[in-house]
Amino acid sequence: MPKISMKNPIVEIDGDEMTRVLWALIKEKLLLPFVDLKTEYYDLSITNRDRTQDSVTVDCAHAILRLGVGVKCATITSTVERQAEYKLGALTASPNATIRSMLDGTVFRKPITVSCIKSAIGTWKKPIIIARHAYGDVYKNAEMLIPAAGKVELVWTGADGAEQRILVSDMKAPGIVQGMHNLDESIRSFARCCFRLALDEKLPLWFAAKDTISKIYDGRFKALFEELYEREYRKAGVSYTYSLIDDALARIVKHEGGIIWACKNYDGDVMSDMVASASGSLAMMTSVLVSPEGAFEYEAAHGTVQRHYYRWQKGEKTSTNPVALIFAWTGALAKRAELDGTPPLFDFAKRLEAATLSTIESGSMTADLAAIADPKPQRALDSWEFIDAVGGTAGA
Ligand SMILES: NC(=O)c1ccc[n+]([C@@H]2O[C@H](COP(=O)([O-])OP(=O)(O)OC[C@H]3O[C@@H](n4cnc5c(N)ncnc54)[C@H](O)[C@@H]3O)[C@@H](O)[C@H]2O)c1
Repeated sequence: MPKISMKNPIVEIDGDEMTRVLWALIKEKLLLPFVDLKTEYYDLSITNRDRTQDSVTVDCAHAILRLGVGVKCATITSTVERQAEYKLGALTASPNATIRSMLDGTVFRKPITVSCIKSAIGTWKKPIIIARHAYGDVYKNAEMLIPAAGKVELVWTGADGAEQRILVSDMKAPGIVQGMHNLDESIRSFARCCFRLALDEKLPLWFAAKDTISKIYDGRFKALFEELYEREYRKAGVSYTYSLIDDALARIVKHEGGIIWACKNYDGDVMSDMVASASGSLAMMTSVLVSPEGAFEYEAAHGTVQRHYYRWQKGEKTSTNPVALIFAWTGALAKRAELDGTPPLFDFAKRLEAATLSTIESGSMTADLAAIADPKPQRALDSWEFIDAVGGTAGA
């Protein structure tokens, strides 16, 4: 059978550890036999980021903005432990934080559901889509160890020399301090991305923050969402609710799902893992970063699955779930097809997704799912067996 051709390339961003191993396997077994894959390749392994002093991360973000579609493997965020482990010159910034801040987008995360896995939250009948603001807050903070008693202040100096200054704390002893920021424009484009999706998908939108405590910072988010809603989206028929984050969480565990839950950057990080885990596994979650310029970056929501990697290095065939990585590829290929007007590529991506789900539903799955599936499979497959089973279904 002739391979499906692509008009334009996608940006391929390779990563680290177990997900890097699976990345190559997915390409070899599920993509290259069927598609004449066109990619612009960037190696974001921690060693290459170190070698290039992280310029490779900036280059790949520019490439996503230029080509419009990227697909990213999970990457290690460097820490002092990882610096020692990989003999790195310096600590580099989190690649996801760098890319997200350059694309200034919103991350949408949605559980991948299969009939044999029931959500841990019995009331959830439909997926909950988490919309995570991908700019600023604690991910672009400035923090300081305070060595001794002294005053900490926030100071703004305008271009014309105007100044505003407030006391953070008159500290009586050593401690810590952190400064964060966000931009009206970024919050507005976050709100717009969320309202647009709510309108397209005909789903209610919730936004939750903590404006009772953070009256100016979280209050600004709340005000800008409301401003846009009243100006454009109320009359378009979107259902929108603001609530306090603790109230939203209390209500979400009793809700039937089928909503978009917009979260600030850190809340979205935490809540998307909660939704993924309650829906089955971290590996059963799609993740796409949408920039206001219309660029899309698809990835798995989980990390590099470090412990499995150490076992794989010792020669073990691990049972690491590759579903989110497969869906990152299918999401990117389907979006490329949509933008380029190439239906055969779109159909291939949807067929591969369907093959992945029906492989699981017919009882072939990795250990994380086997532990919670009903009915239980006789045994869990390792990643190689599972990918072969998906390839068999996709090629049939
Ligand atoms: N998107 C990203 O690039 C990203 C996200 C999170 C963490 N990280 C990085 O990943 C590394 C490991 O971090 P972590 O352990 O906190 O997160 P992780 O997501 O790799 O693992 C968390 C837990 O979930 C399990 N798990 C995750 N994905 C799985 C899969 N596909 N199949 C089976 N089990 C799975 C792991 O075994 C582990 O118990 C760190 O260096 C971190 O910086 C990267």
